[in-house]
Amino acid sequence: MHGMHARLPKNFVLEERLEQYAQVIELDPTRYAGHWAEACHPLGTSGTGHYERIHVDLGCGKGAFVVQEATRNPETLYIALDGEPICIAYTAQHVMEAGLSNVVVVPALGSQVTSIFAPGEVHAITLNFPTPFPRKKDAAKRLTIIERLMDYRTILAEGSTVLLKTDSYPLWRFTQTQFDLAHYQVLWCSDDAHAERPDDTLTEYEQRLCAQGATVYAIEATPLAWTGPLKIEQTASVSLIDYLPDDLESLSYVPHGMQGSVINLRNRKKHERNRQKRR
Ligand SMILES: C[S@@+](CC[C@H](N)C(=O)[O-])C[C@H]1O[C@@H](n2cnc3c(N)ncnc32)[C@H](O)[C@@H]1O
Repeated sequence: MHGMHARLPKNFVLEERLEQYAQVIELDPTRYAGHWAEACHPLGTSGTGHYERIHVDLGCGKGAFVVQEATRNPETLYIALDGEPICIAYTAQHVMEAGLSNVVVVPALGSQVTSIFAPGEVHAITLNFPTPFPRKKDAAKRLTIIERLMDYRTILAEGSTVLLKTDSYPLWRFTQTQFDLAHYQVLWCSDDAHAERPDDTLTEYEQRLCAQGATVYAIEATPLAWTGPLKIEQTASVSLIDYLPDDLESLSYVPHGMQGSVINLRNRKKHERNRQKRR
């Protein structure tokens, strides 16, 4: 699903891992739609008998972020969702090793959220370093394309937010267009999230990419109340190449998945410059 697949250690048998950590993995999540907060609350604990909030970590990877956040916020139920079985196995392992009861790991795609959650059931969605799928033909798989933002609009409670963090400048800019088209209000937009929110929990990818010189771009938005019919019309360009900066030479860090396109574009511009010089 992504150019930076998790490297498997020797003797890693996926089926065995999934079975070993099955206790925190939910294979039939749709049966909880509308009831997550009560159904997953541990029996016999004091308090209200339901979680106060539901936070969906969409594209959770190996789960470092969700484990840290869930440890800090015991009254929030975290749903860690990913389409890659290997990521599900790792996240489930980390959740069990941390002894957390407020995380459920769900193998599913972002496009399934409206069948997993009831309208208004979710209080936050985080999209940490989602696969950018730069090519036009793969754009529908992006977690920030307008169709997905419309799905999130359905499941989010009033005033709740979607937060994207990414090392991909083009994905960040593309997402701005999609929030606009899906009638969201942008609450925070940053070209240096580390500087502006230094205390935020770091994800695995974030640590790895920042060590390679990446800047973290962020955008957080909430659906605007909308009474009329919501028309979905994709009027923005969906190729991430169109969101690269004009001055490609100054691009010291090239986001993952775009190295080939940037090399080709740089070569094309160099040829053009040489041709103009020869004239
Ligand atoms: C680059 S990794 C980031 C993982 C983690 N959030 C982090 O920051 O360390 C992107 C993750 O998103 C998942 N992903 C990408 N598109 C998805 C989709 N449409 N539905 C569910 N998961 C998706 C991938 O399987 C992968 O685990």
